[in-house]
Amino acid sequence: MSDSDGGGCCRCCCSFILTSGLTALFLWLSLRTSNPKCSIQNFYVPALNKTLNSTTNHTIFFDLKLDNTNKDKGVHYDAVNLTFYYGPNVSFLIGNYTVHGFYQGHGKNTHRKYLLDTRGVPWDEALKAVSNGSLAVFRVDLVTAVRFRIIGFKTKRHKLDLKANVEVDGTGDKLKKKKGIRLKSGAPELDCYHARVVLSVILSAFVLLL
Ligand SMILES: *[C@@H]1O[C@H](CO)[C@@H](O)[C@H](O)[C@H]1NC(C)=O
Ligand SMILES: *[C@@H]1O[C@H](CO)[C@@H](O)[C@H](O)[C@H]1NC(C)=O
Ligand SMILES: *[C@@H]1O[C@H](CO)[C@@H](O)[C@H](O)[C@H]1NC(C)=O
Ligand SMILES: *[C@@H]1O[C@H](CO)[C@@H](O)[C@H](O)[C@H]1NC(C)=O
Ligand SMILES: *[C@@H]1O[C@H](CO)[C@@H](O)[C@H](O)[C@H]1NC(C)=O
Ligand SMILES: *[C@@H]1O[C@H](CO)[C@@H](O)[C@H](O)[C@H]1NC(C)=O
Ligand SMILES: *[C@@H]1O[C@H](CO)[C@@H](O)[C@H](O)[C@H]1NC(C)=O
Repeated sequence: MSDSDGGGCCRCCCSFILTSGLTALFLWLSLRTSNPKCSIQNFYVPALNKTLNSTTNHTIFFDLKLDNTNKDKGVHYDAVNLTFYYGPNVSFLIGNYTVHGFYQGHGKNTHRKYLLDTRGVPWDEALKAVSNGSLAVFRVDLVTAVRFRIIGFKTKRHKLDLKANVEVDGTGDKLKKKKGIRLKSGAPELDCYHARVVLSVILSAFVLLL
């Protein structure tokens, strides 16, 4: 075996690794998905509106925004289950609401507005809190699963399990936040972490090759 044969083989091997690396990087870039952003844009509790001076209306009006931030991937939502609690923990279940499953194109967002009939809110306690100038806290949990549509095929289901605390004052309205209140996952974002690991492995492979 001559030296040139060995060199040719090595070059061939290198270009094979380089090509697979580039392919992997390209695939990762085009298959990468990000979960839809879910937020509470509006949350109004008439019973806590002190100007109304009446606690007979036990409804809560909310506006949920579901935002598909992927630039080129659609999202199929399974039924989106919302559960509402009084207080930051789950001891007072006050209502629930389900958004039927639907498809959302890339870069699209949608609002679901609803007047929810609540039960079991300790209104006296909530009123006392807001009369005192402090805040009544409601907790909103969102559970669903989404599949991404990439060039005509669907990915497997990704579970979303999100929550947010909504603070309401004596106007009955949620505290003003420009972008609404984002529903967040309690667990760290595993997908994002995995993606970063894959990317750094690919980049190290490139550095070793060059
Ligand atoms: C609120 O309503 C109660 C009776 O329903 C009344 O006694 C009270 O004066 C009202 N307060 C205000 C500020 O309107
Ligand atoms: C309760 O308040 C909401 C929001 O202001 C209103 O749309 C609804 O008609 C009220 N319901 C009753 C029974 O007063
Ligand atoms: C839940 O919150 C209530 C007050 O809103 C508190 O009294 C209760 O101890 C809490 N329960 C747990 C399990 O944290
Ligand atoms: C939602 O509320 C209905 C009654 O309003 C109840 O029958 C159902 O079990 C609730 N679902 C959940 C998941 O809490
Ligand atoms: C209202 O505020 C006072 C003092 O600021 C406090 O002593 C009292 O416990 C508060 N009541 C409620 C229901 O938060
Ligand atoms: C949403 O609620 C429905 C009915 O209560 C249930 O069948 C479904 O499994 C729930 N979805 C999730 C993701 O928990
Ligand atoms: C509270 O009630 C008053 C009187 O009906 C109304 O003008 C005001 O808009 C209500 N507040 C909110 C935040 O809707």
